[in-house]
Amino acid sequence: MATKRRQTLRVAMVGHAFMGRAHANAMRQAGRFFELPFDVELAVVVGRDLARAAAAAAKLGFAEGSRDLDAVLARDDIDLVDVATPNDSHAPVAMAALRAGKHVLCEKPLALSSQEAVAMAKLARASGRRVGLWHNYRRCPAASLAERIVRRGDIGRVRHVRATYLQDWLSSADVEASWRTESKRCGSGAHGDLNAHLIDMTRFLTGLEFVEVSAIAATFTKSRPTGTGKRRRVDVDDALAFLTRFDNGALGTFEASRVAPGRKNHNRIEINGETGTVVWNLERMNELELFRFEGDEDTRGFRTIMCMDESHPYAANWWPDGHLLGYEHTFVNTFAEFVKSLRGRGRFRPDFDDGVAVQRVLDAASKSARSRRWTKVG
Ligand SMILES: NC(=O)c1ccc[n+]([C@@H]2O[C@H](COP(=O)([O-])OP(=O)(O)OC[C@H]3O[C@@H](n4cnc5c(N)ncnc54)[C@H](O)[C@@H]3O)[C@@H](O)[C@H]2O)c1
Repeated sequence: MATKRRQTLRVAMVGHAFMGRAHANAMRQAGRFFELPFDVELAVVVGRDLARAAAAAAKLGFAEGSRDLDAVLARDDIDLVDVATPNDSHAPVAMAALRAGKHVLCEKPLALSSQEAVAMAKLARASGRRVGLWHNYRRCPAASLAERIVRRGDIGRVRHVRATYLQDWLSSADVEASWRTESKRCGSGAHGDLNAHLIDMTRFLTGLEFVEVSAIAATFTKSRPTGTGKRRRVDVDDALAFLTRFDNGALGTFEASRVAPGRKNHNRIEINGETGTVVWNLERMNELELFRFEGDEDTRGFRTIMCMDESHPYAANWWPDGHLLGYEHTFVNTFAEFVKSLRGRGRFRPDFDDGVAVQRVLDAASKSARSRRWTKVG
C-alpha cells in the first residue's frame, strides 16, 4: 500500500554558533519526539564566511552553506528562516525573510529598540506568515507547569514577582569585547540579554503587563581588550536591576547581571500569590517548588515537584516518568510547537507582538536608569 507523502518544511538558518547549534539540534530532534505536520528538512546555513558556513552545515546536518542571504531568500523551496545572529541583524534579516514570503523564527531580544520591534511586528501581521521568538524557557516542563498552576488560580491573585538572571562570564576585565558589549550591535548588556527572558517569562506565567519601572544600572568595566592590543569602550550595562508595578497592582523586582561570580546561568523566578508561591529555577530545571496555605499548619511547607511525569507538560513526548530533561530540550519543545502552529489557526506564542511588549519594558527600564526616574512602559 502506498504511504501518503507528507509535506516538507525546508529551513534556512542564519548564524551558526551558540544558538545555531541549539536550533539545529532542535530541528533534527523535533520530529523524532513530536507528531509534526511536516517533515523538517535542514536546507541551508547562512553565515558571513562561505567556508565556515559550509563547515557548520556539514556538522549541524544541513545540506549546504551559503554567504548570500538574498539568494537564499529568493529560493522558492525555503519555507522558514531561522534567525540565530546577534541582535542588530534580527530586524534586517527577519524583515527581508517576511518580505520574501517566509515564516520566521527569531532569537531574542526581538530588536534593538521598541521602534524597530514595532516595525517588525507590523510587517509580520501584514505578511500573513507565522512568526515566533525563541524564548525557549517558556517550554521547560517545570515552567509550563508553573504557568498552568498560576493561571488556574492555585496560588491566588499574584502579588509579587521576584526575578533574577545572573551570570559571571564578564566579571574579569580581561574578557574580550564582543558584539555583546557594544550597544549598536546588542542594544543593551545584561539587561537585553537576560532581563528579556525574565520579562517574557513573567508575562507568560502570570498574564500580567508591566505598567511602570524604576531602574539602576552599572558598567563596572569601561573598556575591554579586542585581541589586537587595543581596547574597545564598553557602552552597555554589566548589570541592571529594576522595580516594577503590574497592571493588577502586583509588585516586581528584576535583576540581571553578567558579573555575579559563581552564578553561571542563575535564571530564577518566584511568584507569590495570595494563597501560595511557585518558584522556577533553570539550575534545577526539572523541579518546581510550590507552597500553598493548605493542610495541617504544622506540616505545611514548600514541596518540590519533579516535573517529569506523564501528566506534566511535554514530559510524555520524551522518556518514561522521572527521566530528566536538559537545556536543549527547551529548544526542541519550542521548535515542535512552532511547526505544529503552522497547521493551526491560532497564534504561536511568543510572537513578534510579545517581542514588542518585552522590548517596551526593556526600553522603559533603560530610560529610567539614565534619567533616575520612574518611567511608564510604552
Ligand atoms: N534563547 C536563548 O536562551 C539564547 C541564548 C544565547 C543567545 N541568544 C540570542 O541568540 C542570538 C545569537 O547569539 P549567540 O549566542 O548564538 O551568538 P554567537 O556570537 O555565538 O553567534 C552568532 C552567529 O551569527 C553569525 N553572524 C553575525 N553577524 C551575522 C550577519 N550579519 N549575518 C549572518 N551571520 C551573522 C556569527 O558568525 C555567528 O555564527 C542573539 O540574539 C542572542 O541574544 C539566545
